[in-house]
Amino acid sequence: MSSHRQERLRRLAAPDITQRKGKTPIVCLTAYTTPMAEILDAHCDLLLVGDSVGMVIHGLPNTLGVTMEMMILHGQAVMRGSKQAMVVVDMPFGAYEGSPETAHVNAVRLIKETGAQAVKVEAGPTVAATVEYLVQRGIPVMGHVGLRPQAVHLEGGFKAKGRESEERRRILQEASATAEAGAFALVVEGVAEGLAREITEAVSVPTIGIGASSGCDGQILVTDDMLGLFDWTPKFVRRYSDLRGEISRAVGAYADDVRARRFPGPAEIYFAKAG
Ligand code: KIV
Repeated sequence: MSSHRQERLRRLAAPDITQRKGKTPIVCLTAYTTPMAEILDAHCDLLLVGDSVGMVIHGLPNTLGVTMEMMILHGQAVMRGSKQAMVVVDMPFGAYEGSPETAHVNAVRLIKETGAQAVKVEAGPTVAATVEYLVQRGIPVMGHVGLRPQAVHLEGGFKAKGRESEERRRILQEASATAEAGAFALVVEGVAEGLAREITEAVSVPTIGIGASSGCDGQILVTDDMLGLFDWTPKFVRRYSDLRGEISRAVGAYADDVRARRFPGPAEIYFAKAG
């Protein structure tokens, strides 16, 4: 464990993340399960139980089918596996857009039933009022601007943002409104490099980039992408491993051993006690 982690006596919280603005970059990854959270916790400042869980773990085509129950189960699993990183749970599609009151009921449920410290909402044009409503009632909120996966049908796909001036202005405005409403940090996803820097300069809270250049105050990736668990990864992902290949090689070796009766061997079976 790094000395940075040894010095830490408690789980990081929203104010710890906010005060890192412009300082050492904030390290974030997604997590959905207890064993993965146990591994990531020693390295990360923040673990996001993203609604990407729907695609990564449950094989859904996008995040729209993700439910509160799924977020609660995976949030609980990540809390059980982590001790030091701040844990943020995504509010799924449909859980916060209707009204600030509905958002409050669902955010309270996520916090109470998982023990996580904050929720994340995708911050479209109308979400700032909801962020303010939640923060005023004691719920730390992380915003998510730029490419918003929950707007996939509205946008006709997952497309990089901020390449045209009208869209840049709108995203910058949404980011500023979300930060002013009290969000403790902003995920900035899939935006042109200049816009990521502009947002980072404009808002007083840290920006956490994903496909948004090194001009942000921190970075996040979907863990399964950076570990190489999928055949295809987006342009902005750096693959740090080839776990898909590793797993396939290991399972192939197991299958060969079973078929050749090499597994189990003497070291892997129980023998009756003598006498
Ligand atoms: O759901 C998710 O994993 C996310 C990250 C991509 C930021 O929102």
